[in-house]
Amino acid sequence: MSQVVRTLDLPRRVEWGAGALARVADAVVALGATHAFVVSDQAVAQAGHLERLLADLPAAVHATVYDRVEPEPTVAVIERVAEALRAADGADVLVSLGGGSVMDTAKNAAVLALNGGALSDYEDGADPARPISRLLPHIAVPTTAGTGSEATAWAVFVDPTRRLKNAVFDPRLVPAVALLDPEVTVSVPPGVTAGTGMDALTHAMEAFVSRLANPATDALALQAVELVALHLRRAVTEGADLEARAGMLLASFLAGAAFSNSSCGLVHTLSEALGGFYRLPHGVTNGVLLAPVMEFNAPSCAARYARLGAALTGAPGADAAAAVRSLGADIGLPRSLAELGVPAGDLPALAAAAFEWANDAGNPRDVTLEQVHGLLERALDPGKDRA
Ligand SMILES: [Fe+2]
Repeated sequence: MSQVVRTLDLPRRVEWGAGALARVADAVVALGATHAFVVSDQAVAQAGHLERLLADLPAAVHATVYDRVEPEPTVAVIERVAEALRAADGADVLVSLGGGSVMDTAKNAAVLALNGGALSDYEDGADPARPISRLLPHIAVPTTAGTGSEATAWAVFVDPTRRLKNAVFDPRLVPAVALLDPEVTVSVPPGVTAGTGMDALTHAMEAFVSRLANPATDALALQAVELVALHLRRAVTEGADLEARAGMLLASFLAGAAFSNSSCGLVHTLSEALGGFYRLPHGVTNGVLLAPVMEFNAPSCAARYARLGAALTGAPGADAAAAVRSLGADIGLPRSLAELGVPAGDLPALAAAAFEWANDAGNPRDVTLEQVHGLLERALDPGKDRA
C-alpha cells in the first residue's frame, strides 16, 4: 500500500429527495447564520422556486437576493454579484439556487467580495496564486443535474477578453451543504436535461480513468455511471418522473465529488477551449467529444473502460465508447461540432488553446498538439473517418 496521504473534500451534509428545498431554512439555522446572500437566476425565479425558498426562511433570518445570474457567467457578471455581496453588509451565509452557472458565480463572487483583487489572481494556473483567506459557508441547491458544483471545489467562469474559460479551485469552495430536490428539476426542458446529464456522465468517466483516481473516487464515479445509465433516458423523455430526476441529481453529485477529488481529463480541456470561443452548452460539447476522446485514451486504460462499459450497459465486456454514442443518440444530443456551428477554420486556434492545458489535468494518455487537432477534426465531422 502506498504511503501517500489522500484526501476527500466533501460537503459536510447532503440531503436528497423530494422536498429537500425546504431544508434550506434548517441548514441556515444549523450554520448559525442570520443573513443569507441568495444567488439565483431569472428562469429559476420564474419557476417559483426562489419564492418558495425565501418564504421558508425563518423570520429572524434576513435575506439579500441577487437573481440575475446569466448562463456561462463572465467576469463582468461575477464582479456585479461580488459588488452586491459587499453591499449586503453582514451576510454570513451564501445560498445558491440554480444550475452550474449560479453555483459557480456564487462561489467566485464570494472569493472576490471577501478577498479583493481580480478573478485572474485566483484562477487555476495563476502565477503566483493569490491565497483565498476568507469565504462564507455555502448552501447549494442545484436546479439542473450535471455540473455537480454542489460537490466540487471548482468555480468556472468565462473571460471574453482573453477568449478563455477557466476556474478557481480551492477545497474550501466545496459547499458546506448540498440539497438535492428532484421537484426543482422537473421543469428543466429535455435538451438541457440531456446536455447536463452528459456532463455528469463525463465527470464520472473522466474521474474514473484519471491518473489521480483512487479507490474512493472510483466508488463515487462508478455509482454515478450506473445511476446515469438507469435514469438519464427517462429524465429526458419523462421530465416529471421524480425517481429519474432524483437519480440524476444524485449521479451528478457523486460524479462531481469524484472529479473534484481526482480530476477531469481531455474532454473537459477541449470543451473549455470551445467554451472560451463560443457560447455553447458545456454538457453538449462534452457529449460530442466524450466517445472520440475515450477511443484516443483506450490504449492507456482499456481495463478501466471495460469496467465503465459494464457499468453503463450492465453487460460485461461492452464497448464503453459505443455505449456513450448510443446514449447520446437516444437522448437527442448533436453528434458533431459541425452541427453546433463550429467552423473548420477555427480548429488550429482551438487546438492551440486546448493544448496549453491538455497535459496538466489527469488525463490517462499524454497528448501532442497534432493529436489534439486530430481529435477536434474527428469531433467536427465524425462521419469523415468512416467514409
Ligand atoms: Fe463538466
